Amino acid sequence: MPKIFALVPAAGQGTRLGDALPKQYLALAGRPMMFHSLDALAAVERIDHVIAILSPLDRHWGAHDWSAFPDKIEALFAGGATRAESVANALSLLEGRAAPEDWILVHDAARPCLAVELVEQFLDEVGDDPVGGLLAMPLADTLKRAEESMRVGETIPRDGLWRAQTPQMFRFEVLRRGLAKRPDATDESQAVESTGQMPRLVQGENSNLKVTFAEDLPLAEMILARREARHCREDPHPPDDRHPREGGDPAPGAAQ
Ligand code: CTP
Ligand code: MG
Repeated sequence: MPKIFALVPAAGQGTRLGDALPKQYLALAGRPMMFHSLDALAAVERIDHVIAILSPLDRHWGAHDWSAFPDKIEALFAGGATRAESVANALSLLEGRAAPEDWILVHDAARPCLAVELVEQFLDEVGDDPVGGLLAMPLADTLKRAEESMRVGETIPRDGLWRAQTPQMFRFEVLRRGLAKRPDATDESQAVESTGQMPRLVQGENSNLKVTFAEDLPLAEMILARREARHCREDPHPPDDRHPREGGDPAPGAAQ
């Protein structure tokens, strides 16, 4: 069985968001933003390793408490100048550890609202595809091409147009070759497409939004809060370590 390595690029500066702190460390629902992406991926049993790709100059990772995570999470201080370079650097470090047929799943630290169920569905749909695939949404808005004068030059038919999201998942060797050919790719799919392969499209969810601008933050916060409230309503007393077991002793390791 091929292994699944999940990479979470988190080496950006968050320039468009405009905060002094890189956006992946901004507080969101009581946690640094990237906590949520790491948490969702770590909760998926089929994923063997979850690897945050950080800037070699990162001074924030060590200031947070990641002890809630199981052993399968690690940090690589290997980020590059672009997102593609960050992923390519991580792949170089995985050489020898990942087999050519193993899966590399890439998910942005800046997409904190990824639902565990959506990851499961994505993995099911990509299945044992020889290439891999990505989550994407069919375009809902009408597309306009702007002229320099800020007037509409043309309307572009939206039939067959999709907005790429992450996760995107490809075979290690397929992705390595793609990134070598297109080091300027803005997502993994583009790199893989450049080698003549056709990645599989899997429909994502609008809630899996990317936090790019400051105005995206309250929306992400609301999605996470609603999901948390729904989980509490559906299962007000989850049988985990936080609650004494029914009629018995507290679970091992539970706070007393
Ligand atoms: N990323 C990365 N290495 C880079 C640039 C980006 O790992 N050199 C990561 C970001 O941390 C983010 C994801 O790639 O999780 C998507 O990138 P984007 O939303 O563009 O984030 P930033 O590059 O940080 O933001 P901006 O472009 O506004 O500066
Ligand atoms: Mg960027």
